[in-house]
Amino acid sequence: MTEAHPGEWQRKDLLGIRDLSRREIEIILETAESFREVAERPIKKVPTLRGKTTVNLFFEASTRTSSSFEIAEKRMSADAINFSTSSSSLSKGESLLDTTRTLESMAPDVLVIRHNHPMVPHALAKRIASRVINAGDGAHEHPTQALLDALTIVQKKGSIEGLRVAIVGDIEHSRVVRSNVLLLRALGADVTVAGPRTLMPDEAESLGADVQYRMESAIEGADVIMMLRIQLERQGRTRLPSNDEYFQLFGLTRERVALAKDDVIIMHPGPLNRGVEIASDVADGGSSVILEQVTNGLAVRMAVLFLLCGVPAS
Ligand code: NCD
Repeated sequence: MTEAHPGEWQRKDLLGIRDLSRREIEIILETAESFREVAERPIKKVPTLRGKTTVNLFFEASTRTSSSFEIAEKRMSADAINFSTSSSSLSKGESLLDTTRTLESMAPDVLVIRHNHPMVPHALAKRIASRVINAGDGAHEHPTQALLDALTIVQKKGSIEGLRVAIVGDIEHSRVVRSNVLLLRALGADVTVAGPRTLMPDEAESLGADVQYRMESAIEGADVIMMLRIQLERQGRTRLPSNDEYFQLFGLTRERVALAKDDVIIMHPGPLNRGVEIASDVADGGSSVILEQVTNGLAVRMAVLFLLCGVPAS
């Protein structure tokens, strides 16, 4: 475990990759690397956050991210409280800010927030004293996902500099792709995004990625292929033909994987739609690092909690 970077980390909140310098990204990844070892211990608990209270506010469905934060907090000995919208006063019409102020009056040290509207964590961070971690805001950012993806790539490839990364799927509705393009570009990767025209946002190129509308051109020679789920819940109207047709054009099959480098790694943030964006034998095959991404999520969230809690709350 780490006591590294004393005084070097100054940030109270983690709201997006866009705010971070290259050095800050490196500090999180180095700290996460040192937390990985906790998961290998027979007793997976350290006293780092003893006496601290964390509140997980998930206003949108989540399996991986919410359980990952909760396990990370508990392994660091924090008192972790989960707050879900259906069992809260939000269903009685209380405003988001009132709910948050109520929680704030109980003086938690950290609020972890997921919300279907972009910038909600940013707005709350300005108004409340607790440290705030963005666990996904609309189709905007998902910083801890991009950090755990980067940790996985660094472990498999040694470094991100100069790698060719293809991100394929529903680019428009994905917060994962936005945070990943920003992070991977900051660490020197060449990033290509690919998907149907109906799911490609106007700003795709301004993110700094090359844009392709054919999957084959994106994954040819790639070191890393990251597949994304079709976010039906964020699409106002249907933008796709059938799932079968989508799979024909953009599904990751063994034949398509063969276009990439021999040592390509296959990633997916989950949840997976098998047979829609990815074939089962590829998701479960030797090049897939999907479950390692989940394992690394714990180390990254422990690192972020550790670093933010080292900075006084405002
Ligand atoms: C993603 C999300 O919710 O942004 N999943 C995750 O956090 N692991 C991607 C998705 O929902 O498809």
